[in-house]
Amino acid sequence: MKKKPVLVRTLKDLRETLAPYRREGRKIGFVPTMGALHDGHISLVELAREKSDVSVVSIFVNPTQFAEGEDLDTYPRTEEADIARLAAVDTDIVYLPSVEEMYPEGSVTNVRVEALSDLLDGIYRPHFFYGVATVVARLFIHVQPDVAAFGQKDYQQLQIIRRMVRDLGFPIEILGGETVRDPDGLAQSSRNAYLSAEERAQANAISTALNRAAKRIELGVSVRDALTEARSMIEQAGFDRLDYVSAVDPETLQDLPDAPVAEGYEGRLLAAAWMGKTRLIDNLGFKRS
Ligand code: PAF
Repeated sequence: MKKKPVLVRTLKDLRETLAPYRREGRKIGFVPTMGALHDGHISLVELAREKSDVSVVSIFVNPTQFAEGEDLDTYPRTEEADIARLAAVDTDIVYLPSVEEMYPEGSVTNVRVEALSDLLDGIYRPHFFYGVATVVARLFIHVQPDVAAFGQKDYQQLQIIRRMVRDLGFPIEILGGETVRDPDGLAQSSRNAYLSAEERAQANAISTALNRAAKRIELGVSVRDALTEARSMIEQAGFDRLDYVSAVDPETLQDLPDAPVAEGYEGRLLAAAWMGKTRLIDNLGFKRS
């Protein structure tokens, strides 16, 4: 029988729960989440476990990464089911802080990872990565993990966290977990729950378009031609609005030139598009042979 994780809701309890493990020199693995857990999250928990002795998962729907009019109030909250899923993979501690615990009254300290936060998704959700960096920095200070896992599905977020860890000298190894996909290619996301059956049937067009664009770039087709085709594939598949499809340098996230990429070059394709009221993002690496 699997053991139940210890549930803690305050920083004080978290520190007390972790103290004996720390004294014994055990490695702490951490996965921050906003709940509504799917297979992608579970694969991150397993990835962090491989590199640690004690696993901590946080569930916190972070208000500072939602703008006015976004889905903060309707974001799926499934605490009981989440805890059951975490128990099934032997999670040791689930941290469920309140808003006041993460943002004490009068709190004004924020983290901004400049440059990387103002591109791609940052253009469409200007508040978003500042909220993410701020809450992840606070969670890192609360949990003080040795390793932490983030999904490659949120590639820009992953690169921002890596840069924050480097810039601020957090002694934490960051792991990037592979995107978990449904059989038709759709990347798993908590927001997929918003899609109607009809929308769901069309939503995999983003991953199909990115796959094809990656293959074409790998064969020497120009970035511009590959992106033009990917854009029209997504638009024709029933998406209502395309925010961007971009080919970027994997570290700086700067757009690549229109030309074919050099042999051996490894880059990243990223896309964001709206299916009805649901905004979906996806990305894929490529390497020209
Ligand atoms: O990827 C997410 O679910 C969130 O952005 C994170 C990293 C848990 C911060 O709130």
